[in-house]
Amino acid sequence: MNIVILAAGQGKRMRSMLPKVLHPIAGKPMLAHVLASAEALPGKHQMVVVLGHGGDLVQGYLSESEVVAKTALQAEQKGTGHAVLQACDHLTDDPITLILYGDVPLIQTKTLEQLSQLASSGGIGLLTQIMSCPMGYGRIIRNQDGDVSGIVEEKDATTSQKLINEINTGLMAIPTKALKTWLGQLKPNNAQGEYYLTDVIGLAVSEGVPVLTTQAEHDWETVGVNSRAQLADLERAWQAALAKQLLESGVTLLDPARIDIRGELICDQDVTIDVGCVFEGRVHLAAGVSVGPHCVIRNSVIESDTKIEAFSHIDQAKVGAKSVIGPYARLRPGTVLADEVHVGNFVEIKNSEVGSQSKANHLAYIGDATIGKKVNVGAGTITCNYDGVNKHRTVIEDNAFIGSDTQLVAPVRVGKGATLGAGTTLTKDAPPDQLTVTRVKQVSLNWQRPVKKSK
Ligand code: UD1
Ligand code: CA
Repeated sequence: MNIVILAAGQGKRMRSMLPKVLHPIAGKPMLAHVLASAEALPGKHQMVVVLGHGGDLVQGYLSESEVVAKTALQAEQKGTGHAVLQACDHLTDDPITLILYGDVPLIQTKTLEQLSQLASSGGIGLLTQIMSCPMGYGRIIRNQDGDVSGIVEEKDATTSQKLINEINTGLMAIPTKALKTWLGQLKPNNAQGEYYLTDVIGLAVSEGVPVLTTQAEHDWETVGVNSRAQLADLERAWQAALAKQLLESGVTLLDPARIDIRGELICDQDVTIDVGCVFEGRVHLAAGVSVGPHCVIRNSVIESDTKIEAFSHIDQAKVGAKSVIGPYARLRPGTVLADEVHVGNFVEIKNSEVGSQSKANHLAYIGDATIGKKVNVGAGTITCNYDGVNKHRTVIEDNAFIGSDTQLVAPVRVGKGATLGAGTTLTKDAPPDQLTVTRVKQVSLNWQRPVKKSK
């Protein structure tokens, strides 16, 4: 199949430097959603994206993405028919050409399959929708038998035609060879002086080619975006759909209206998610995990029965089972925590492994460290991992106890079962099982506090 994606329009109402089709829904460009749905169609396809306004940026996006798509330039926007015409040179002999819009992002693969099936016996497949308020859309004209006879644009419609509430979503599947012929026959004799793709329908009907219609399962699939307000509305509709899927799969959401999923969120059984959480990239929450309010979790795995408390930020980390993270914890890339680990408030961990049953409960920075099992990291502990040029590792072996306000000047090693006294600045390795402390001895002196001189 040939798949043509129209993306040349300016999107004036977005009032943006960014081409409309690159504005994101759920964290990825609208165009990326369309491409993904098209790519998921069974069989082999040839994709052509029609570029125009901001074409360089769209082209740049496409060359960075993994999608294989050709591009065609529509230098001047003379209408949807004219846009498809620009793609004609790239169309293969494949019998069907599917036409999609880059600003109708949430079209689902299942609907595209329906549409292309309608065209499989040589006719046209047209995606329509019944709308209570059809203003602005092209209306579907049907004859007495109920067969489609044409599409009339709002601006060209008569008063009675404007009452029709079946609209053209713009998406269609057309026999390729006939499409090329019909596009050559389009004339811009209409209210907008444009080459309308929709006029192809009238041409097909006059040649006796059947036009068959179908509808998408969800209303949001065919919603087009013209303004930031519409983009925001569609984002909410999409998030609501994702939330509904989670609820149906057995996840507890304290408020399905207050979750944002910008990627793929995989939840095993009995996961609970409180309000205001944002999930980015690929996140896996294993069985029994609970996520407190206002957490941000990106490209991470959280193993079973772990509690993530409020306001925690987790990025490219792996958290073991039965652990407690937060509130206000920050796990940065390369953090790997074993099971039953406790990470408390204002603790930042980066590029470090922490063994099972170890704890860092308050105010600490752990960077480039390897921490063993059952280690206690006291409040205010800092790994001094950076000398201004290079990063160095800190190793803390099993059962070590790091007193509060300790600085571990890396590279440095704390032996098994070692204890570091509070306030230690460790610059050399601490031997196992001993107390190491770097502190001036405490003294107590007789002392009279100065008193304020009377005038
Ligand atoms: C079009 C349809 C209308 C339908 C509506 C659905 C026509 C004549 N009308 O109207 O029946 O109800 O979509 O949203 O087809 N584009 C180009 N080059 C152009 C013009 C448009 O690439 O020269 C692209 C736009 O970027 C957009 C899509 O085509 O992705 C639709 O264009 P738009 O101007 O929004 O079409 P409408 O007038 O809304
Ligand atoms: Ca439009």
